[in-house]
Amino acid sequence: MIIHGGAPLRGVVELSGSKNATLPIMMAAVLTDEPVVIRNVPRLRDVKTAIELLGGLGVAARWLGDHELELHARALSGHEAPYDLVKTMRASFVVLGPLLARAGRARVSTPGGCAIGARPVNLHIAGVRALGARVQMRHGYVEAHAARLIGARIWLDNPSVGATENILMAAVRARGRTVIENAAREPEVRDLARMLAAMGARIAGAGTHVIEVEGVDRLHGADHAVIPDRIEAGSLMAATVATGGDVIIRGAPAGDLEAVVAKLAEAGAEISPVADGLRIARNGPLRPIELRTLPYPGFPTDLQAQMMALLTQADGASVITETIFENRFMHAQELIRMGADIVMKGATAVVRGPSRLSGAPVMATDLRASMGLIVAGLAAENTTTVSRVYHLDRGYEALDRKLGALGARIERAADE
Ligand code: UD1
Repeated sequence: MIIHGGAPLRGVVELSGSKNATLPIMMAAVLTDEPVVIRNVPRLRDVKTAIELLGGLGVAARWLGDHELELHARALSGHEAPYDLVKTMRASFVVLGPLLARAGRARVSTPGGCAIGARPVNLHIAGVRALGARVQMRHGYVEAHAARLIGARIWLDNPSVGATENILMAAVRARGRTVIENAAREPEVRDLARMLAAMGARIAGAGTHVIEVEGVDRLHGADHAVIPDRIEAGSLMAATVATGGDVIIRGAPAGDLEAVVAKLAEAGAEISPVADGLRIARNGPLRPIELRTLPYPGFPTDLQAQMMALLTQADGASVITETIFENRFMHAQELIRMGADIVMKGATAVVRGPSRLSGAPVMATDLRASMGLIVAGLAAENTTTVSRVYHLDRGYEALDRKLGALGARIERAADE
């Protein structure tokens, strides 16, 4: 992605559907032999990967429109999620719960490490074990069997999003009652629960620390519209503020963005609600802030890189602490190459600004780090080239088109 920086973003932009809500919702299609229709599905590489994964299980996928996807798991023809797919998209691992619930068995590759941290799946496995599954680890795969899952009380050591989703999808068809304590409260978990409820599941408490599920024998088809992507919203907000722009973000879910709005406002952004979204602008200088990533409703780790890029423009020292993933400052070295003043010690980074960023060739290491580099490139002088754009295509729909429509000078190199 080639960016000629310095142009303030201005105009109106429409959000896409949430990637992190879409992927588990797609996996939920496995739970019924009837077709499900999912609307507001973003056209992303991860969605393609999920279609491929489901295809391998015998789930038919059909696009009904640009963003409307029908999935039909009439009869499953497989029960395996292969390494090749899971390694490119960790979210594949949440197929374990629904497969086990529907087919009584599942063989799912473990994802392995990741650029941002170790990312174990122990809580997912402990969860399905608690529901009565026999689980073995063999040849890099989790092999699970259960003639019928049985409801249980499960306490999560930490509120893992993926583990909550996996356990939830296993529990909806288990016999009896399941209680997930210390569950993830992310809006994407809530959206999955809404989808499952539309399919006939009995769930209470999604969006709180305690989710209760009363298992049912059968789930049926459903028609569900995915929530807008709060991480895309936050990314566009950071880009707008970094460039001193003024943008209306249509569809921005204000209720899901409270921590983000609070922190951006503290840094000096002007944010106001408008019909169907948020308006964000910056007129004066930016103030430094302290920022700590936390599980929802705290500040999302998925926006940490974008905020770091933004805070290089604040007038003073900001302190960023990453508490979710142990290796999520990979973008900092690249920002430093662009002229940022960042010192890291363990999970904390001190960003001193304002720095005059100058364009440079930089390399993306993961999805959100890439977006951090895009934010920096937009604010920098001259030309920044962000390579390994495939990371961005995993999770941002038509990013170059959307930023271009807001006045950014951004283009995709032919060979990407
Ligand atoms: C999801 C999001 C990801 C986001 C993350 C945290 C999707 C597809 N991805 O990832 O974008 O950055 O939430 O908001 O929704 N952990 C364990 N054991 C486990 C599972 C997790 O120790 O079995 C730890 C992880 O190492 C991490 C923390 O729990 O430190 C949170 O991870 P988790 O919420 O599971 O993240 P994901 O669901 O993988």
